[in-house]
This record gives sequence, C-alpha cells and structure tokens, in this order.
Amino acid sequence: MNLVVVSNRVARGKANEPMTGGLAAALLPVVEKSGAVWVGSSGRVRDGAQTEPIAEIEQIGEGTLALLDLPAAHYAGYYEGFANSALWPALHSRSDLISVSHDDYRSYREVNAFVARALLRFQKPDTLFWIQDYHFLSLGAELRTLGVKSPIGFFLHTPWPARCVIDSVPNHRDLVTAMLAYDLIGFQTEDDRENFTACIRTDLGLQVRDGVVRSLHGRTRLAVFPIGIDADKFAQQAAKAVAHPDVSRLRRSLNGEKLAIGVDRLDYSKGLVNRVNAFDRMWTMHPSLLRAASLLQIATPSRESIEAYGNLQSEVARLVSEVNGRHGEVDWTPIRYLNKGYGQGVLAGLYRSAQVGVVTPLHDGMNLVAKEYVAAQSPVDPGVLVLSKFAGAANELDAALLVNPHDIDGMARTIATALSMPLNERRMRYEIMMTKLRRHSIQQWFADFVETLRDGDAAEAEIDPLPAAPAGFLAGRMLSPGARYH
Ligand code: UDP
Ligand code: G6P
Repeated sequence: MNLVVVSNRVARGKANEPMTGGLAAALLPVVEKSGAVWVGSSGRVRDGAQTEPIAEIEQIGEGTLALLDLPAAHYAGYYEGFANSALWPALHSRSDLISVSHDDYRSYREVNAFVARALLRFQKPDTLFWIQDYHFLSLGAELRTLGVKSPIGFFLHTPWPARCVIDSVPNHRDLVTAMLAYDLIGFQTEDDRENFTACIRTDLGLQVRDGVVRSLHGRTRLAVFPIGIDADKFAQQAAKAVAHPDVSRLRRSLNGEKLAIGVDRLDYSKGLVNRVNAFDRMWTMHPSLLRAASLLQIATPSRESIEAYGNLQSEVARLVSEVNGRHGEVDWTPIRYLNKGYGQGVLAGLYRSAQVGVVTPLHDGMNLVAKEYVAAQSPVDPGVLVLSKFAGAANELDAALLVNPHDIDGMARTIATALSMPLNERRMRYEIMMTKLRRHSIQQWFADFVETLRDGDAAEAEIDPLPAAPAGFLAGRMLSPGARYH
C-alpha cells in the first residue's frame, strides 16, 4: 500500500521545534514510522504556471515529505481568505467573524485544483490518498475530475457546526457536494458527524443509512475517529524534561507557590479572554490564592496577518496587563504571559510542573494539549485538568473537571477546586484518563482510519457501481446553489 497524506501545514521533523497546531504534531510521528508520503505547503509561494510544483523533497524517518510552493496569485485568498476567514470561524461556530469575498472562494478552489494536479505524480496502482482538514474540502472532487480512481479519505480536525452556522459560508452547498467525492470522511466526535449528516440531509436532500451516504459520486462513509497522542512517549519526555533549564528555572521561581498552565495558539476559539477573566475572578473571590497560585499562559502567535487574530492579540495582552496590575505585588506576578512557542520536549516538563492544566476553548475539534497535559503528569503526584466541555477531548477525558467556558464564575470556582484537590482524587482521575489515552493512541487513530479506507474499497467492489457522473459535476462546479438530487 502506498499512502499519500495531504495537509496544508506539515511538520519538518526537527527535534525541539514548536509544533504549529495539533494536525502537524499528530501526523509527524505516524508519517515518520509508516513510510507514508506527506504532501503539504512549503510556506512559500511562486508566480506563474509551474511545470514542477514540488519544491522540496525530504526524508522524515521512514516517510517522505514533499513540499509544494503554492500559487502566489491565489495563496492569500485561499489561506487567509476562504480557509481562515470563512471556514475556520464557521467551523468554530463564530459566523460573526466571517469575512470573505467571492474571489477568495475562487482562490480556494484554484489551490485545491493545483494541489490535486501536483498529487498525480504520487499515484500508483495501490495508492490511498488521505486528505486532512478544512483547507482541502474540495480536493477529493478535483482528484476525481483528473480521473483518479484510488480510494480517497478525508479527516476533519475541527468541529463541524450546526447547519444554521455552516449556512453562513458562501458556497457551502457546493463544497459539501464536493466532499461527497471522498470515500470516507472522518470526524473527531459523534456530534460533528451528526451535524454533517443533518447538513447533507437538509441541504442536499440525501439520506445517511448505517453511516453511508449514496450520491452521484458513489458511496461515502461517515465515521468518527477521535485523534489521540502517544501518551507513554509524552510521559517519558515529561519525566526527562524536568532537567531542562527552562523547566528547572520555572520550578525554582515558584517558591512553593502552585501553578496553573495554559498552552494555546492565539486563536479566538481557545477562549483566552474568558480564561483570563476567570483567573481574575478567582483571585477576587479567593484572596487566599493571591501569591499562592499563579498562571503560566503560553499563547503562541498564529495567523497574525488576519485582522481577527491581530485584534485578539491586543485584547488578551491588554487584559493580562490589567489583571496583573490589579492583583500583582512588587515581588509577585499573577499571570506569566508568553507569546512564543516551545518544543514539545520542554512543554512536557512545563505541563508536569503545573498542578492544574487549564484547557478552556469555546469550541475545539479535539485539543491535544488537554491530552498532553494529562500524559505528562507524575503518576504519584498528578495535576488536575480543567477542561471545557466544548473541546472534543471532553468525550474521552470526562474524568477531568469539566467547565462551561462562558461561565466565568463557574470556571473561577472550578480552578480553585482543582488547586486544592486531594491526592487520592487526583490519582483516581489521572488513572482513568491515562487508561483511555493509552487505548486511543495516535498510532491506533492512524491505523483505524487507513484500514477503514482500505477495507471500504474492498467492500465497494462488491456493490453495483452507480452510473458515472460528468467530470464537472464531480468537482462540484455544475450544481446550481439550490440544486437537490437523490
Ligand atoms: N505546541 C507546541 N509548542 C507550543 C504550543 C503548542 O509544540 O508552544 C503543540 C502542542 O504540543 C500540541 C499542538 O501544538 O501538540 C496544539 O494542538 P491542539 O490540538 O491543542 O490545538 P491546535 O493548535 O491544533 O488548535
Ligand atoms: C489547527 C488546524 C490545522 C492547522 C493548525 C495551525 O490545528 O486544524 O489544520 O494546521 O490549527 O494553524 P496554521 O494556520 O498555522 O496551520
């Protein structure tokens, strides 16, 4: 089997470099071991028609990284525009932040078509294509237009929102139609799959039976594959990282004070403003926690050229400085706020140094930081995870203290409870969560998806194929916006 994994963002496999997001962090170790080809953006753009779109090939473990220079004329409309100013806010139920033009959609489709052409050179008789995330909703349809017959799977790392929210994305019907060119669509949670099912039922008039939808594209299986981490590797890294200079400096600086940690991309989905407000409230409600507990918030800059992200950066910085101004002392800073990234080796040690992990997104596909925090704890004296019930991770990590990130008082109370939780209860919660993390590892996630995609192909061969659809239709371009079909 020749597996070709495709995502916009890739990880370069350099030790101790920060990972940019959960997708890259999750795929790196499995691509390195599986020998897959991983195709993604080089981060550079190129003008004009390209005869050779692959800019760089490098070896990562057993795998191969193939980097594409994306078309300069369409990059901004694709990445900053349609992907991150229309799809991302909608997928995270923030239609108020959607800001997009029709040209952005055109650029998005152009980049998807461009990547599809670049993928042809990796096609062999036994190839499986596995496309990742919202940047490439229409890539499968573009591959079919080019005559690709191989199985094509897709995994969505973000949530899929309620129908009324996705309705606010221009051309969403076109895109959802194009998605049905995939043989398998994987979601993080059952809620995401149900929302998608409702969307195709209402928008396209299609029924889903036993997790399968039949359209003019053929059959598409909709399934749930919650993404995991390598919990034991994280635990080992955390135990070792205690000796790292950053980690030991942090520990020395604490002087017996308790620490809560937050690690997030600076993204409005992460609920940073509400989190800082909750700490503010906690110190006001429980003055005994002043000087006794502080927050280390790592907020890695992300998508800075997009206005909503720039605004968030200013808002969080202002809020942190107000809270520090209000509660700080000459020799005590309530919130240590860092706008930079850390390698996972160091992060693991920072997680282990904190008695509480605060992961309080307003909405998140999974949230790997939540899982990493748990895995990094010392089994004999573990910390407590405070987790938003709106993170996909809450489905498995229900032994965390679950919070509603919109309820500031509730979060303040829960963080205070976490800071004083007795050892036996901490250990019990940790054991329950570690057992689940070990069972649903990243290796298992990868193997389950690939197996379902491959076996689905075998099952399909036994079913009468539907009549072939015209090529333009497959790319989702010939459907008028209101069209319905069965
Ligand atoms: N991460 C990192 N360095 C940092 C901050 C984060 O390597 O300074 C990694 C973190 O370990 C995790 C990923 O980035 O694996 C973030 O994934 P998550 O699912 O929590 O959120 P996302 O950024 O994908 O929305
Ligand atoms: C989330 C998305 C990923 C993305 C990552 C970082 O995890 O699901 O697709 O790669 O954020 O965002 P960026 O725009 O920097 O790639």
